[in-house]
Amino acid sequence: MKGIVFREFIDMVESQFSARTADEIIQSSTLSTNGAYTSIGTYPHQEMVDLVSNLSTQTGISVPQLLQHFGRHLFGRFVEIHPNMTNKFSDVFSLLGALENTIHVDVNKLYRDAELPSFSYEQDNQQTMVFIYRSRRRMADFAQGLIEGCIAHFKENMTIQRTELPSQGEEALTRFTLVRAANANA
Ligand code: HEM
Repeated sequence: MKGIVFREFIDMVESQFSARTADEIIQSSTLSTNGAYTSIGTYPHQEMVDLVSNLSTQTGISVPQLLQHFGRHLFGRFVEIHPNMTNKFSDVFSLLGALENTIHVDVNKLYRDAELPSFSYEQDNQQTMVFIYRSRRRMADFAQGLIEGCIAHFKENMTIQRTELPSQGEEALTRFTLVRAANANA
């Protein structure tokens, strides 16, 4: 996992929990660099699993809730750090439709060896989009948080229904059905 994700996670813990909590979860996790990450470096994904699980122990908040929360937060940070990747989109469906073939492709150029999930989607009308997440890293909670952050960013009124699909080998598959509220964008 890229260092930018670790750095943003640790910054979020410092500002939304405390600097002490951040220190404690770093100390109690087995980390290759003792918590010093560079944005473009690549580090074992397991380190993020350890950090989040130790934060859960410290705070009593569940791992899925923490990952979702972090995803919501990180979407807003991505918009700040990489405005050129997000500002060409004007709504949730257009951004999500471009995630696999445009946004994450550009991410891969900027951050070499990024380990990205794959997404497929179907959109039959302006109200509904079905979006399927697939990844060996099994971070559907994080994906959900990013989608929620995206909805908040565009100030849309939308519900998300989530269904876990049967795994394929090491990969977890999760289906997100996004439905615009009836009166949204009317
Ligand atoms: C709602 C939109 C988005 C969703 C649902 C999404 C989903 C994800 C997920 C779930 C991961 C974790 C890796 C995995 O599960 O295999 C990930 C990684 C990542 N994404 Fe996205 N993403 C979104 C938008 C963006 C944007 C706008 C950017 C940058 C401008 C971005 C940059 C990254 C980066 C840098 C990583 C880390 C890759 C690594 O650690 O190797 N994503 N994304």
